[in-house]
Amino acid sequence: MAEVSHVPVMLDEWVDALVLDPDGRYVDATFGRGGHSRAILERLSPQGRLLALDRDPEAVREGERLVRRDARFTIVHASFGQLDEVLAEHGWDKVSGVGFDLGLSSPQLDQAQRGFSFQQEGPLDMRMNPDEGQPLSAMLRTVSERELAKLIRDYGDERFAGRIARAILQAMREGRMKTTADLERVCFHAVPRSARYHGVHPATRTFQALRIWVNDEMEQLRQGLSAAIRHLRAAGRLVVIAFHSGEDRIVRDVIEQAVHPCTCPPQFPVCVCGRRPSMRWVQKKPLRPDEREVEINPRSRSARLRIAEAVS
Ligand SMILES: C[S@@+](CC[C@H](N)C(=O)[O-])C[C@H]1O[C@@H](n2cnc3c(N)ncnc32)[C@H](O)[C@@H]1O
Repeated sequence: MAEVSHVPVMLDEWVDALVLDPDGRYVDATFGRGGHSRAILERLSPQGRLLALDRDPEAVREGERLVRRDARFTIVHASFGQLDEVLAEHGWDKVSGVGFDLGLSSPQLDQAQRGFSFQQEGPLDMRMNPDEGQPLSAMLRTVSERELAKLIRDYGDERFAGRIARAILQAMREGRMKTTADLERVCFHAVPRSARYHGVHPATRTFQALRIWVNDEMEQLRQGLSAAIRHLRAAGRLVVIAFHSGEDRIVRDVIEQAVHPCTCPPQFPVCVCGRRPSMRWVQKKPLRPDEREVEINPRSRSARLRIAEAVS
């Protein structure tokens, strides 16, 4: 299978915000095909170091090629929810910056056998790490209609979530749900006729929601961001690109909690709870890609970039 490349999103904005100290230690929590990692390495001096993570073994294989060419770089096959353990294993306590570029890489989306795409027929899998957890097909065997509808609504913002969940489970029971093409067809026919040809394809939001569910992405993100904040040294940067509103809300909320941790009632004249901010916003209102980038790389259209800095 020919390797498909990945065009990094908001590359300059991301790396400008992240790398302020060329001699520092940095973490790229989502290596992918290494576009952002390579940009970090270009900014680092011979003393600087970069540790990258990815939960996808194919991404890690790609990263190992870069390890052989650049002694400042290390890659680990791990989920960013395990960032605490990974840093401890490498003897890194405080770091100068942690960057995230969430979601899927183009090779993941474009390889039919990974099961992420409704545009190509593949197995119902969707695991970013195929050696961990259960594929979508197994998870659909045990989920209730109510749970499935809720997760399609919550993770996909899908207004026809109830109809789609019912149709998916009915197709499962009748043995008509074997591949991503079956899932695409079921989603298409589950929505009202009037919604089939307007806006995005009727399977888009459901595929996104199921992928988030299979990979436990929201919990991973909460854990990864919290660990990153704990490990930033003073003035260290947290820089995150999110691609949908649920993800971006978690980024905003986890950082906001670190910026305003005080739990004292608003009428108290001074803080007595003792919780002090550990972060400050550098860019609270998310940056968006400019028109030129969206034109060249339509995948960047929904990107939102947030930047925060450690204050202690
Ligand atoms: C959008 S791509 C990153 C692309 C990369 N910045 C580049 O320029 O090539 C997101 C990557 O993050 C990885 N990923 C997603 N969730 C992860 C997690 N919880 N832990 C580690 N890696 C994760 C995916 O496997 C994917 O390779």
